[in-house]
Amino acid sequence: MNPVRIIEKKRDGKTLNPKEIQWMIQQYDEGSIPDYQMAALLMAIYYQGMNDEEIWTMTCAMAASGDTIDLSSVPGIKVDKHSTGGVGDTVTLAALPLAAAAGVPILKMSGRALGITGGTADKLESIPGYRTALPEDQMIRQVQQCRLAMVTQSSRLAPADGQIYSLRDATATVESIPLIAASIMSKKIVSGSEALILDVKCGRGAFMKDVRQAEELARILRRIGNLAGLPTTVFLTDMTVPLGQAIGNSVEVDEAVEVLRGRGSCRLRSLCIILAGAMIKAGGVASSQAEGEEKAKNGITSGSGLEQFKQCIEAQGGDTQWIDKGQLTPKTRCVTVYAQKSGYITDIDPVILAETVIRMGGGRMKKGDPIDHFVGLRLKQDMGTFVHTGDPLLNLYMPQGGDWKSIESQAESAVRMGENPRSLPLIYKMWESDNNDLENQDFRTIIK
Ligand code: URA
Ligand code: CA
Repeated sequence: MNPVRIIEKKRDGKTLNPKEIQWMIQQYDEGSIPDYQMAALLMAIYYQGMNDEEIWTMTCAMAASGDTIDLSSVPGIKVDKHSTGGVGDTVTLAALPLAAAAGVPILKMSGRALGITGGTADKLESIPGYRTALPEDQMIRQVQQCRLAMVTQSSRLAPADGQIYSLRDATATVESIPLIAASIMSKKIVSGSEALILDVKCGRGAFMKDVRQAEELARILRRIGNLAGLPTTVFLTDMTVPLGQAIGNSVEVDEAVEVLRGRGSCRLRSLCIILAGAMIKAGGVASSQAEGEEKAKNGITSGSGLEQFKQCIEAQGGDTQWIDKGQLTPKTRCVTVYAQKSGYITDIDPVILAETVIRMGGGRMKKGDPIDHFVGLRLKQDMGTFVHTGDPLLNLYMPQGGDWKSIESQAESAVRMGENPRSLPLIYKMWESDNNDLENQDFRTIIK
């Protein structure tokens, strides 16, 4: 095999055969192919795309580069949930405790914030004492004992994806449907779960800006899930505006707790109930989506979801006292931005708000940057509401000191007002998993 010939073949729009894809991934993982050749291949894939078989082979090759988590010692159908990433996307923190409280065992491995999208691992680390990095045996034990563990991804899981992802990040090749699909699914098929709920975000605050692209990503994610024998339900949801009212790390944990108490933003709470409902159904605890949602709502009214969240936090070394005390933003200065005129809220730009939070130190532009967990912002108004001059638009939780006037005007510019109310859909589409679709090809047979 010759890497130059393989790059050339993809560059010219031809289909790579499974052996070529496996060989490139394996050789790169072992360090025998340099970054510049893998980067060239990634750019060729970015422009020429891949067919389903190529994507499946790439997924399997990356999955095979590391360990497979064995959750067979945990009773019940283990369900995983994944979002392609958005702004104010606090769903994991509330929906997973609700699904676990209903009886679904969950091992959730999350990533960190990068660019404008938040990362669940960073949010959890704003909880004093919370340990996100657990050894594999301890993750499994926690799911056995507590039904829910929320951790960072083991570095031994699909390590080839980790290396390729860093390279994509540095070579402008992240926004490619085949590469995103292979990256996500390579990790999901080795993470030990038996069903998967995917939330594909669509809109200016997400990787996929338009519904057509997002639908194509949703289709291929579901196809790969089915090929791997992993029943996969996909939701296509809006990311034109922030999902919740909170953007930042500790403020998003606060909002998740509010959702678990039946409060918080209405859009966020609705999506949490719907996705938790889908998890409960996929876990075999409900026989329909509607019954799953009923059980998720029960988790809110009975308080069992919040109790489950506290148990998980405690098991991972976190302090649960702040949950009862409220606000988890001790070291910040709260500045309120007020409306300069009256009108309906017609737009809230998630990109501008996420960039505001990054500027305050609450996100990172490159991997490994330090972050301040306690800065962030909280919208005080939802899309479509009427505000009067002088009403609060949002609270900024800023680091102490410094001149932050330009931060205030940046945040203010994200909220637009007009004469007519405007609302947005929350869910564009949903594809339920169907056991008849499952193709049950073990990924191990593909990498041979
Ligand atoms: N999330 C991933 O894990 N990989 C991608 O490529 C994009 C989002
Ligand atoms: Ca390896």
